[in-house]
Amino acid sequence: MTSSAPLSPALLAQIATRVARLAGDRIRELREQGVDVAAAKSSAVDIVTEADREAERIVTAALREARPDDGVLGEEGTGITGTSGITWVIDPIDGTVNYLYNLPMYTVSIAATVPSPAYADGRRAIAGAVYNPNSNEMFEAVDGGGARLNGIRIAPTGNTELATSLVATGFGYTAARRTVQAEMAARMLPGVRDIRRFGSAANDLCMVACGRVDAFYEIGLQPWDYAAGALIATEAGCAIIGEHDQQAPGEPFMFVGAPGLVHKLRTAVLGM
Ligand code: IPD
Ligand code: CA
Repeated sequence: MTSSAPLSPALLAQIATRVARLAGDRIRELREQGVDVAAAKSSAVDIVTEADREAERIVTAALREARPDDGVLGEEGTGITGTSGITWVIDPIDGTVNYLYNLPMYTVSIAATVPSPAYADGRRAIAGAVYNPNSNEMFEAVDGGGARLNGIRIAPTGNTELATSLVATGFGYTAARRTVQAEMAARMLPGVRDIRRFGSAANDLCMVACGRVDAFYEIGLQPWDYAAGALIATEAGCAIIGEHDQQAPGEPFMFVGAPGLVHKLRTAVLGM
């Protein structure tokens, strides 16, 4: 495939899954040889490895070969403006700290997006894939076509009771952001079943989508963290609120879960 003719979201999802598997299997192979930390980013604990960079090169090259007129926006610096109207938003390794420690929850996240003024980041995902090369799990979704795990339709738990909800969350890399996030977690924790911090927001969104946790929230996510996972969660039947509000110290935030749960979670986390 070398044409950039208009494609259906289903065909874009096929490209996303193929490329996510290509990069994911490569980073897993590289992990067996050890990890080279290439640089620190927003803080000393926010790192980029050589594998992040190689995976971003692999994903970008494969997408450009399949769809030469599309744009690509990547966590590790890729910023290609396309002419087709489609921009691929990619996270080559989501869960880089897990990767550093050889914890098996890291993912490759790839989403095809189109411009949409209704969204604060200006884009709406129409196809996406999140791949965990350690569990060999491929989550994928197509706009209006449902979400799947290894080809089988998935659905969230449907739990609407906060008190019995298992809630995943995540934390950013700067001390200032974590101070706010710790206050939010402390406010919410007494009112839920328990919390989980898996270390990859793309994976967290898929965990809600397939019912392994009831809900997920985080403030300060970047488009590459959530582009594919939020589509997968939505298509699985989750509600998502808040990602475009600016009430949490100027940071975008996201609450994901059953339609009857997300507002309760938002109130518990934000205290309003
Ligand atoms: C991080 C992970 C983490 C989330 C952070 C992200 P990275 O992405 O998704 O779970 O809590 O906000 O920055 O650095 O591993 O690509
Ligand atoms: Ca990320």
